[in-house]
Amino acid sequence: MRIAVYPGSFDPVTNGHLDIIKRSSRLFDKVIVAVLHNASKTPLFTVEEKMDLLSQVTSDITNVEIDSFSGLLADYVMENKISSIVKGLRAVSDFEYELQMALMNRKLNPDVETIFMMTSGEYSYLSSSIVKEVFKFNGCIKGLVPDEVIDAMKKKVSL
Ligand code: PNS
Repeated sequence: MRIAVYPGSFDPVTNGHLDIIKRSSRLFDKVIVAVLHNASKTPLFTVEEKMDLLSQVTSDITNVEIDSFSGLLADYVMENKISSIVKGLRAVSDFEYELQMALMNRKLNPDVETIFMMTSGEYSYLSSSIVKEVFKFNGCIKGLVPDEVIDAMKKKVSL
C-alpha cells in the first residue's frame, strides 16, 4: 500500500490545496492530509476547525484521510508507514524553500521521497495568506476557496 502525506498549515484550505489533494489521490492508495500544530503562528482557525473543513471538502474522495501532527514531519512519516511527501509548487519562488525542506527531510529519513506537483495554472497565485488578506478587506474570494470555507470565515468574523 503506497501512502503519501500532504502536510501543511491549511489556514484555511484553498482550492489550490484541494486541486493537489484530488490529483495526488489518483497517484497513491491513500493520501493523508496532515495539519501542522504550529505554536509559533497565530492562525485564523484552530487545528480542529481546519481538520473539520478539510474533512468536509474532501468527503467525496474515498482514499483521503485527515490528520494532524506536531514536531518533525520526518518522524510523522516514519511512524505512519508513509512512502512519499506530496508538495504543491506554484512559482519559482516556492522552489528554494521547498528544496531545502525536501533535502532536510531526506537527511532525517532517507527512505522518504518528496513528490512535487505543479499547481494548476488557475491557482498559481493563490495562498491561504492572500485569501485571508482579501477577505479581511471585504474582497470577493468566491472560487478561490471552497464555499464551506467562505461560510466558516464569515462565522469567524461575526463572533
Ligand atoms: O502550509 P505550510 O505552512 O507551507 O506547510 C509547511 C510544513 C507544515 C509542510 C512544514 O513547515 C513542515 O513540514 N513542518 C514540520 C516541522 C518540520 O519537519 N520541519 C523541518 C522540515 S525540513
